[in-house]
Amino acid sequence: MEYFRINGLTKLSGDAYIHGAKNSVLPILAASILIKGESVIHNCPQLSDVDNTVKILEHLGARVKREGKTLIVDSSSVNKYDIPQRLMQEMRSSIIFLGALLSRMKTARLYLPGGCKIGLRPIDLHLKGLSELGYGIESDGSSLFCSYSNKGAEAVVLSFPSVGATENLILASVFNEGKTRIINSAREPEIEDLCEFLNGAGAKIKGAGSTIIEIEGVASLHSTEHTVIPDRILASTIMCAAAITGGSVRLNNIRLSHLAPVLSVFNEAGCKLYAGDSSLVIKAPKRIRRVKKIETRPYPGFPTDSQAMCSAMLTLSNGVSMIYETIFENRFRHMPELMRFGADITVQDRVSVINGVKRLKPASACCTDLRGGAAVVIAALSAQGESEIRDIHHIDRGYENFERQLNSLGAAVKRISDEKEKEGNPKQQQTESERRGQSA
Ligand code: UD1
Repeated sequence: MEYFRINGLTKLSGDAYIHGAKNSVLPILAASILIKGESVIHNCPQLSDVDNTVKILEHLGARVKREGKTLIVDSSSVNKYDIPQRLMQEMRSSIIFLGALLSRMKTARLYLPGGCKIGLRPIDLHLKGLSELGYGIESDGSSLFCSYSNKGAEAVVLSFPSVGATENLILASVFNEGKTRIINSAREPEIEDLCEFLNGAGAKIKGAGSTIIEIEGVASLHSTEHTVIPDRILASTIMCAAAITGGSVRLNNIRLSHLAPVLSVFNEAGCKLYAGDSSLVIKAPKRIRRVKKIETRPYPGFPTDSQAMCSAMLTLSNGVSMIYETIFENRFRHMPELMRFGADITVQDRVSVINGVKRLKPASACCTDLRGGAAVVIAALSAQGESEIRDIHHIDRGYENFERQLNSLGAAVKRISDEKEKEGNPKQQQTESERRGQSA
């Protein structure tokens, strides 16, 4: 197992490159199986979630090659319609292969997905929508078998603008006869990016980024090339790290409009923001100001994915901040971990109240999930002394070489392997086995 050892209290400064968006690249890779040819996808970050998606593509019969930040997927020989449980359980977003497989093979057999334990995360909206589009669905509670049965409705109304359900319905409609409309669709930039990729391959999709998406069926898609949008959640993570350490960082390769929902929070927190065309400088105040209320909402509201990192930042504010999480019912699991650093937080159901303290102390803490993990790293960066952060595999799902990026800004984050440490230190090996003995 690996963990981070972090020596905090350095002000972060310098330039940070914002890599491609995890939440774009995953559905785009799934969409590549609709193309009986090559998809050249640039700006693909090296993440464990991307590696898992590639494993699914290869299992289905695609050939995938990485050249630096570019993934080249040749889906001409995709010939399977099933995804085994071990591959599905690695990550929640594997469910996006459902719509893609139905489009390509008209049939899909897969398992209910795994992923972050941030809530129940049902897929009822995906299945209801697909069934309205004419797909038959059988499930025994753990596996799913879906296949095309008859021409379905021309419009599907989502009762909530689910990102994944919108993506699945788009993917399942690309080759449908006539026009299909998705009403109350999610408006996240990653949906626009997916549609741009598909349109580049010959799909006819209008309205992405709005609440009604219209897909006019086409007979086939052709080879294409696409560059993935920058990761707005990584950008907000680096902003929180800069702010909590009292630093000043320039973010490069950003889309400012995608960051609009979080900028007002950094403003209210007293950060100075200087925007360029594709860059943004954030300069922290002497002391972070409290933010009256953050309420997570579907885009263009404040992103639930930025909530954990902002809550870490606000632990050092000059007053009381309130966070209302409306998207996921279990997305405060990082709060007890932040309290290990001395943060003063009260959690009640979907509301957290953060009473800012003057300083955090170093601690041993765990990553509870991907963004919760980033939040505890941010806390450790501001605590004077040595902290240890465990379960960092969660972080590797969504941040490419996070420690290298933070260290390039002046942080002192070391990735340590338990095993190697034990090999090099027999005394510690003994201590470890003693510890295991005690807890057995
Ligand atoms: C995507 C993002 C995730 C982000 C989330 C919300 C990817 C790979 N992941 O996840 O990082 O946090 O959007 O912005 O893009 N829901 C249902 N039934 C459904 C589907 C969703 O009740 O069939 C509920 C969920 O439980 C959750 C809410 O709707 O409470 C939002 O989920 P959704 O927008 O679908 O998120 P994901 O696509 O899973």
